[in-house]
Amino acid sequence: MTVNIEQARKRVEELKREIEHHSFSYYVLSRPEVSDAEFDKLFRELKNLEEKFPELLTEDSPTQKVGAAPSTEFKPVRHRIAMLSLANAMSFEELDKWAERLKKALELTDEQERQLAYVCELKIDGLSVALTYKNGVFVEGATRGNGDVGEDVTLNLKTIAALPNRLISKNGGKVPELLEIRGEVYFPISTFLALNKKLAEQEEQAFANPRNAASGSLRQKDPRITAKRKLSLWTYFAYVTDAHMHDPKNHSETLKLLHDLGLPVDSHYKIAHGIAEVKHFCKLWDEKRHQLDYQTDGVVIKLDERSLWKALGATAHSPRWAIAFKYPPEEAETTVEAVEFEVGRTGAITPVACLTPVKLAGTTVKRASLHNAEQIKRLDVRIGDTVVVRKAGEIIPEVLSVKLDKRSKKSEVLEYPTRCPVCNTKLVRTEGEVAFRCPNTYGCASQKQRRLEHWVGREAMDIDGMGEVLIKQLIDAGFVQDPADLYMLTEPELMQIERMGAKSADNILKAIEAAKKRPLSNLIYAFGISHVGASIAELLADQYSSLKELMKASADELSQIEGIGPKIGQAIVEFFDNEINQQFVERLIKAHVSIQSDAKAKPKLEQNLTGKTFVLTGTLETLDRLEAEKLIKAHGGKATSSVSKKTDYVVVGTNPGSKLAKAEELGITVIDEAKLKKLLGLT
Ligand code: IVH
Repeated sequence: MTVNIEQARKRVEELKREIEHHSFSYYVLSRPEVSDAEFDKLFRELKNLEEKFPELLTEDSPTQKVGAAPSTEFKPVRHRIAMLSLANAMSFEELDKWAERLKKALELTDEQERQLAYVCELKIDGLSVALTYKNGVFVEGATRGNGDVGEDVTLNLKTIAALPNRLISKNGGKVPELLEIRGEVYFPISTFLALNKKLAEQEEQAFANPRNAASGSLRQKDPRITAKRKLSLWTYFAYVTDAHMHDPKNHSETLKLLHDLGLPVDSHYKIAHGIAEVKHFCKLWDEKRHQLDYQTDGVVIKLDERSLWKALGATAHSPRWAIAFKYPPEEAETTVEAVEFEVGRTGAITPVACLTPVKLAGTTVKRASLHNAEQIKRLDVRIGDTVVVRKAGEIIPEVLSVKLDKRSKKSEVLEYPTRCPVCNTKLVRTEGEVAFRCPNTYGCASQKQRRLEHWVGREAMDIDGMGEVLIKQLIDAGFVQDPADLYMLTEPELMQIERMGAKSADNILKAIEAAKKRPLSNLIYAFGISHVGASIAELLADQYSSLKELMKASADELSQIEGIGPKIGQAIVEFFDNEINQQFVERLIKAHVSIQSDAKAKPKLEQNLTGKTFVLTGTLETLDRLEAEKLIKAHGGKATSSVSKKTDYVVVGTNPGSKLAKAEELGITVIDEAKLKKLLGLT
């Protein structure tokens, strides 16, 4: 069948879209929807069409960026419709004033104002984004920027499960030709807490609040990181451009349209009549909002009837037909009854203020972190002080300030301990670190306790029925010093523990036995090596067939693994260089704790390409493109998309693109498929 240029153009566009979509599912979401063979078939079809019709070949064609893991460029995007912000009302009086202004401008009677329809929506505390759908397909997404020009974050937005790639009307209605959407990307509170926990474990800086975490995650060059963060989205606005379709008459209908098209709309909005009902909604949600899994910092109130919007217009910054009612930041006053110094698993000391219990943002706060010695000095917190506490990002309580006017004359400056409050060892502070540490790693009872708690935790060895209390009893009774001792416990020993019968003792022993066969990643995580959280542990377990192999790896070798830098590599090597840790591993092996990776089927390939960077161009004859890249990586090499001075090899297939010319220009070694196969040990 002969194809004319118009048919070819259409097909090329289709293929490009499909290939990009599959490439994204493969690289970023790690959720391929088609087999490699099917992918290659599409790729070849595009390649053939581009050869036949060279005028259809463009720079941005997927055939020109072979093997590229997509990356976000943050290109500036001019918003088709400026992204205005909203005026704020900080109190009910200010809300009343706004309503008065509306009443006057729209020349309403009192009765008409009482009938006026306002849409009340929760104000989501996230990051506003502009989304563009063309003929129902998501084509572009940008941050707000300065309101006129934002940054292109399309790829990152595509990783958000709540954001549909294609719009389909649930009611069988029409999908507008062009749809401009406004919404808020947010970090669910539950995932935020989990992320911060993970960061803390890896001794990385935690995010102050979900909003910062959302912003940090959306503004990633590598969308694969965004994908892992599990952001979410609520949409609250749409502008329709279509020859046969108009913007709905009312804002509430716009919300319904968004919902009908499969876009996520927060269902808690209400139509209120008159400002009194609006205030009622605000009051109601002041309490209830703390039950949601996302942060809200107010209520956005919009006039429902869009014809009124035109009449009212906008100032330079914000429309007059909408306002944001902001809840006051949630703070409370209470007194410091004591300051405790907690000793963590790694010996780090964290000062914690014990407070007279006080209600704050939906919960009762009894303890608040004072972070470190510097923070104590800065605040000059003393026992007996009246302090203002706030939930940072309304979640983690912290001491904000001291009410100096309420301070007792007898108060004394708080002394930071110089010795460990648990084992009395002199504390040390490593240069560049804020935290003081107890260096008595293996002798300090608190560190022992925390290490054991970490060992039995769900992401670690997951020992059922082993909790904080039992661990303390076992340490106090002298039965357990470190996790390896758990495997030596006997029934008579366990039965000496208070309120422990034969049956419970038996259950504990069974749970310990069952937990000997946890995956290698859990075991690596359980060690609690600095910077090695659950996901790093997984990366390591993927690479090594047994713990023994990992113990032999050099810092250099470890830092070659994608996602592992020199700092982590060093920490791992130091951990296993320590004789105490080596003996600990030997005792685990003796106790028959499994140290093998279950992926034994994956023999480790020779790391002969370590440090070498490859760029593939053109179609390879026998090797599948993605497979070739995987193999390069499995041999320790890297596969990138563009040729630069850092490239070691350019692998050329049939019909190479401009990359071959670039390679020749830079004098980079050009090899063919046969040579690549040799390097990969395939021939
Ligand atoms: S409407 C022209 N609705 O709050 C009106 N904004 O303070 C555009 N926001 O920039 C905004 N939830 O980032 C609207 N339900 C909601 C919202 C909302 C959160 C954010 C948005 C906006 C800011 C204004």
